[in-house]
Amino acid sequence: MTKLDQIRAAEDRLLLSTYERNPILFVRGEGVHLIDENGDRYLDLLSGIGVNALGYSHPAIEAAIARQCRALIHTSNLFYHEGQAELALRLTERTGLDRVFFANTGTEAWEGALKLARAHAGLLRSEGKNIGTKFLALEQSFHGRTFGSVSTTYKAKYREPFGPVVPGVEFVRFNDVADLRAKFSSEVCAILVESIQGEGGIRPLSPEFFSEARALASSTGALLIVDEIQAGMGRTGKWCGYQHYGIQPDVTTLAKPLAGGIPLGAILCTEEAARAIHAGMHGTTFGGGPLACAVAIAVIDAIEKEDLLQNATEVGDYFRAQLRTLASRHDAIKDVRGKGLMIAAELDSADLAKLTVAEMLKRRIVINCTSDTVLRFLPPFILKREHVDHAIAALDEIFTEHAAQAATQSAAPFVGGHARG
Ligand SMILES: Cc1ncc(COP(=O)(O)O)c(C=O)c1O
Repeated sequence: MTKLDQIRAAEDRLLLSTYERNPILFVRGEGVHLIDENGDRYLDLLSGIGVNALGYSHPAIEAAIARQCRALIHTSNLFYHEGQAELALRLTERTGLDRVFFANTGTEAWEGALKLARAHAGLLRSEGKNIGTKFLALEQSFHGRTFGSVSTTYKAKYREPFGPVVPGVEFVRFNDVADLRAKFSSEVCAILVESIQGEGGIRPLSPEFFSEARALASSTGALLIVDEIQAGMGRTGKWCGYQHYGIQPDVTTLAKPLAGGIPLGAILCTEEAARAIHAGMHGTTFGGGPLACAVAIAVIDAIEKEDLLQNATEVGDYFRAQLRTLASRHDAIKDVRGKGLMIAAELDSADLAKLTVAEMLKRRIVINCTSDTVLRFLPPFILKREHVDHAIAALDEIFTEHAAQAATQSAAPFVGGHARG
């Protein structure tokens, strides 16, 4: 029995069966590569689902962890430590928002943002304004797995087994301005969007839809809440996806790459929204601990020092251009989209998408599939063109082989005398 077999058997016996893992045991990482138990190197174009922004074994992260773990790992939020205000300053300067609450994960940040919206609407009501408690979320949205998050997540399979979920959520058709206008009213306390939907298939909001959402929310005092958990922190070439649109939200949420692999989430909001929160209303034991904050500061500084926003833009543009060239030769690729290093290639079938992910893994390249037919690429921000070339060559080979096989299969019925003429 290999070590992997032993671990698989133990997990099968001991863990809740939530994940369908790939049969690979990674033991190390270096730059954009993961290394398995046999020493085989994999090009990682997924970065732990959009987390490892600086790749693996980055010296800035290693130094921050080493320094901070010798000094202080945890204090609780009953005391001050050196990291939160320093990190909050960096985040507010880069997002254009005023105040921060630190959580541990994406879904926890999102839960807090929903609570903030309800509390803010309550405050407005106490000041005599007419505003309700309803949320407008979008079709194909994904915001996480806790109750508020699944309630505002579109796919029924994430919500229905756990019903009843949090009431008061209505879904608007994606990028449908008329549907947004029809469903918006003074009953709504917040409009909830991702600037670029991640799990929903790397789908950017249209500028028209985004600005209408901004205008409608402003017209009643409802909050525009933008989930940047997947798109944020530089992945799209800007700190936040909404900055491509020139739209400022009232609240945004960050997580995934925020602390380069150490769990950390954040809610950022305006002074106006922050009026709704007082001591004791919300909190967390671990959120914004000294270790996570020290690493997040190091991540932001490294992104700037190494010019990684620019790299994400340039290498991302190159990646999409190469995928488009590939699409011109392979009909199976129906669409190529995204921003920076948040990239999708939509295929013509779910089976082919699944097969492509498996074939890439055989060639030691990690990608994944979302929304059934969408190949998703969320590589580390340090990706270079040569890595893109390697991935494109592998995709080319896979699609060429698949097309040849499909052609043989469709020719097969004619073999053995069925062909006419
Ligand atoms: C846009 C978005 N929001 C929220 C989440 C939930 O984050 P977490 O898995 O850290 O709870 C995700 C995770 O994929 C996400 O992509």
